[in-house]
Amino acid sequence: MLFKQQALLRQKLFVLGSLAIGSLLYLVARVGSLDRLQPLCPIDGRFGPRGQDEIQLRALQFKRGLLHEFRKGNATKEQIRLHNLVQQLPKAIIIGVRKGGTRALLEMLNLHPAVVKASQEIHFFDNDENYAKGIEWYRKKMPFSYPHQITIEKSPAYFITEEVPERIYKMNSSIKLLIIVREPTTRAISDYTQVLEGKERKNKTYYKFEKLAIDPNTCEVNTKYKAVRTSIYTKHLERWLKYFPVEQFHIVDGDRLITEPLPELQLVEKFLNLPPRISQYNLYFNATRGFYCLRFNIVFNKCLAGSKGRIHPEVDTSVITKLRKFFHPFNQKFYQITGRTFNWP
Ligand code: A3P
Repeated sequence: MLFKQQALLRQKLFVLGSLAIGSLLYLVARVGSLDRLQPLCPIDGRFGPRGQDEIQLRALQFKRGLLHEFRKGNATKEQIRLHNLVQQLPKAIIIGVRKGGTRALLEMLNLHPAVVKASQEIHFFDNDENYAKGIEWYRKKMPFSYPHQITIEKSPAYFITEEVPERIYKMNSSIKLLIIVREPTTRAISDYTQVLEGKERKNKTYYKFEKLAIDPNTCEVNTKYKAVRTSIYTKHLERWLKYFPVEQFHIVDGDRLITEPLPELQLVEKFLNLPPRISQYNLYFNATRGFYCLRFNIVFNKCLAGSKGRIHPEVDTSVITKLRKFFHPFNQKFYQITGRTFNWP
């Protein structure tokens, strides 16, 4: 009997010991990886002295946990009332451009404690059926937030859909509009790659990019091809400018957001009149993904889904040259209107 009890005790001690060693190893690995990327305690150094208008970050991060629960639907009406939570119409919208990096931009802005993202693309203004459901339907699609926070949604189809500027204007004529762009030819190929992947998944055949982008009869760029049309940024922007002054737009450099996200995000914070809160600590380069990923705190970090950052098919260089030449005058006009110049070829 005594022998059996001793054996049991030894077994328990062994399990507990293994758990302790495992946890220790995990912590060492974790701290080690953080150490390589960032100072261990960035919170102290990150912020200047607190002014009155500053947001209590720690309190907000705690509340964020609550918000997450509420968003999942795990909240009673009483809790929502108690925490003063509201579903607010967006104060800023990422209107496009498709494949410009709209998801990365939204997720990165969501690192800011005063920003709450609408996770799904809502397609309220570009989809007639949704639009017919009315503004209250749209508001109910928004996440819960505290009154001082701003809600941001993204639906890249807004940028290219004819009716959208007028509809958004009717909702809020002073709304802030974010447009993230990439070098137009790269964006068009990225657009093609996404559609191609969808076709492949359904076992459908699809043409090569070269065949779609170049009209075989004229050998000129095929402006009927949607991926090409979407990259003529100035054409779309001009429609928006009939409703909104240029100051209400902020152009984000999608190519730079990939390689050097922080300065781009800081420009957006400024545009949205938010105190600077996103820091290098929140962004770390993940060599396996080949992209920056997001770090909310010491335990919670995430990369974007695998569908972001696809490998593009190789495209004939003469087609690329032709496309770049085609986009060139439109790009010049885009720089002129927006006041933001890119080094696009
Ligand atoms: P590719 O798949 O062509 O590389 P959108 O979200 O508008 O669909 O844009 C997708 C693009 O976001 C991707 O295009 C990718 O290059 C870019 N992107 C920018 N930052 C990223 C990040 N941190 N992680 C993954 N993709 C990112």
